[in-house]
Amino acid sequence: MALLEHFFFLAFTSQILAEHSEYLKWDGGWLMNRSTRLLEEKHCTVERRGASLTYAEFIQQYAFLRPVIIQGLTDNSEFQALCTKERLLEEYGEHLVRLSTANTYSYQKVNVRFREYVEHLLKPQDQDCLGSDTLYFFGDNNFTEWGPLFEKYSAPPFQIPGTSKAYSFGIAGSGTGVPFHWHGPGFSEVIFGRKRWFLYPPEKTPEFNPNRTTLSWLMETYPLLLDVDRPLECTIHPGEVLYFPDHWWHATLNLDTSVFISTFLG
Ligand SMILES: *[C@@H]1O[C@H](CO)[C@@H](O)[C@H](O)[C@H]1NC(C)=O
Ligand SMILES: *[C@@H]1O[C@H](CO)[C@@H](O)[C@H](O)[C@H]1NC(C)=O
Ligand SMILES: *[C@@H]1O[C@H](CO)[C@@H](O)[C@H](O)[C@H]1NC(C)=O
Repeated sequence: MALLEHFFFLAFTSQILAEHSEYLKWDGGWLMNRSTRLLEEKHCTVERRGASLTYAEFIQQYAFLRPVIIQGLTDNSEFQALCTKERLLEEYGEHLVRLSTANTYSYQKVNVRFREYVEHLLKPQDQDCLGSDTLYFFGDNNFTEWGPLFEKYSAPPFQIPGTSKAYSFGIAGSGTGVPFHWHGPGFSEVIFGRKRWFLYPPEKTPEFNPNRTTLSWLMETYPLLLDVDRPLECTIHPGEVLYFPDHWWHATLNLDTSVFISTFLG
């Protein structure tokens, strides 16, 4: 009898696990969300190049002209190993981090302990949530504290003459993202998770509500766009670096819990 109960218990729990593992898995302790596969673009329209892309080609073909995704440009496996949930909590759990709201023009800032953020605030965001109601960790890093970690990061080796680089590190939940905005040129990569990008050239201001999230823009505005009004778009994975030129509009959507780092060239 006990054996039979045990059998049913096992059958029951393994079924629950199977149902969930269809949608969720963990990478580096961070939650990956396979059900957001539906939110990946049908066709990536940003050029993808391999590590054989030379610096001269990068400058001539992309630096001042258009975005590009470069695969295998650097090896950040050591940095990735330092960015697992366990390692980051161990090292930075008690440090304060500065969180921002994700609306375009009026970022609000709040300081919390990193552990508090990871364990209680880092969660998936749904479509109806306002950008101004979601707090997330991107940029505003205290370089004194995070410097030892950033030293282990291999930044993309392609510099733009006359600029210097500044890092912006963050972690955000599935469904979060920054709505359209622009600034100087830079690179961005995910260390864990996937991040979908939408980009428009400087002369083409996108239609969007600055208080709404990228997710709500994707569900409500994007489907109505004419073909000529579609952004360049692509989802980047670990091992890829996306380059965006100066003044290009861009919005991002984290499909998983993403650990990411950008290198701004200012
Ligand atoms: C996974 O993605 C779906 C679809 O966007 C979302 O509704 C859900 O909240 C996400 N779950 C987690 C745990 O990230
Ligand atoms: C950055 O961290 C250092 C060391 O913990 C601290 O002394 C300093 O006040 C912090 N800076 C800011 C702007 O929070
Ligand atoms: C966005 O929110 C701000 C502050 O709540 C408000 O003043 C502004 O009118 C809103 N903008 C739009 C386009 O809804």
